[in-house]
Amino acid sequence: MLMFVVVTLMFCSVCDSSRLLKNVESQHGRNLLNNGLGATPPMGWNSWNHFHEHINETIIREAADALVSSGLSELGYTYVNIDDGWGEMSRDLDGNLVADKTKFPSGIKALADYVHENGLKLGIYSDAGYYTCAKRMPGSLGYEEQDAKTFASWGVDYLKYDNCNNGGIKPLDRYPIMTRALMKAGRPIYFSICEWGDMHPALWGYPVGNSWRTSDDITDNWERMLSRIDTNDVYADFAKPGGWNDPDMLEVGNGGMKKHEYIVHFSLWAIAKAPLLIGCDPGNMTDDTIEILSNAEVIAVNQDPLGIQGKKVRMEGALEIWAGPLSGYRVAVLILNKYGDRRAVISAEWDDIGLDPSTVVEARDLWEHETLKRQFVGKLTVTVEPHSCKMYVLKPIA
Ligand SMILES: *[C@@H]1O[C@H](CO)[C@@H](O)[C@H](O)[C@H]1NC(C)=O
Ligand SMILES: *[C@@H]1O[C@H](CO)[C@@H](O)[C@H](O)[C@H]1NC(C)=O
Repeated sequence: MLMFVVVTLMFCSVCDSSRLLKNVESQHGRNLLNNGLGATPPMGWNSWNHFHEHINETIIREAADALVSSGLSELGYTYVNIDDGWGEMSRDLDGNLVADKTKFPSGIKALADYVHENGLKLGIYSDAGYYTCAKRMPGSLGYEEQDAKTFASWGVDYLKYDNCNNGGIKPLDRYPIMTRALMKAGRPIYFSICEWGDMHPALWGYPVGNSWRTSDDITDNWERMLSRIDTNDVYADFAKPGGWNDPDMLEVGNGGMKKHEYIVHFSLWAIAKAPLLIGCDPGNMTDDTIEILSNAEVIAVNQDPLGIQGKKVRMEGALEIWAGPLSGYRVAVLILNKYGDRRAVISAEWDDIGLDPSTVVEARDLWEHETLKRQFVGKLTVTVEPHSCKMYVLKPIA
């Protein structure tokens, strides 16, 4: 029944969206977004999940410093993204956005220069509406070209574009206008559509943005985290290099989940080719947090050049198998026990994960960092603790 509703919903939206998209293409040209960015999912940090609006230039600079000193930037976490709360309520006399004079006294350009000097990139936030979500600064609706030029002149590399206070104007009459403005701004700027999945942006997002949110906000909570990735999974087939589904930013390290639950969170985001945007305070990470975020083998699954989103391929009660192909004929597999009260013995069957049943593989455990001694054919059976997962890369033996 639920499946039927989802499928019907998707088909209706496909008709509606493809019609709308045709209108957009006839108005703006077919290849709206051609910035060469997002060949793999973006990695970095964003201020919102930990600091919310309570940001300033010190906090952003210290986050950048911590990405470098912790070694995370070397692992690929290079975007330093400022979220809502960075601007003055009033534009200047020429209509330009202005950084908050108290919180960002040196201005955004100085911050961009600083992160660039440290080998990082700067992201900023605006809103496809009259005000941003926090309502303490203006959005970019009606000012798209001017704001895109401002961001480019500051040296901004990434724009998260939210959906609040939009006057009821349809997303396809707002987001592509910013796409075109960014293309004219003279600097490659990653375009992150934050439309919350309202009008199924996966169906029209590829020519418009480098990624699109598939749901409303995550919170630092096991159930909520899982429901974000489940919603995101419905759209798996629409993701590819240059355009990714976005189940929202990471909560790893914010304290609301146990270590093994954060490992599930990070593993699911990685296999689903989600943006890996750290959402904790990088200046105050526990060893467990650093260990999770620094797992280079899990990151490599996320950043695999094939860029195919892994999906939930089997579910029995609260036991799930997620899988997706990787380069080199390898397969990433995530074996998940969502039960909170019992460990479980779970098998990943080759039929489900896209391997021929006769294929013999070597299995690499990405959290134990070891290649299992025996080889496997047909299935891989493991014991998984409550609210935990195991994650493997299976490599066919020639
Ligand atoms: C930013 O906030 C921190 C913590 O509240 C404070 O210590 C620091 O002085 C602030 N910096 C600026 C530029 O407001
Ligand atoms: C650092 O994190 C710990 C929890 O891990 C918290 O108790 C502490 O208040 C944090 N310190 C700062 C400066 O945010």
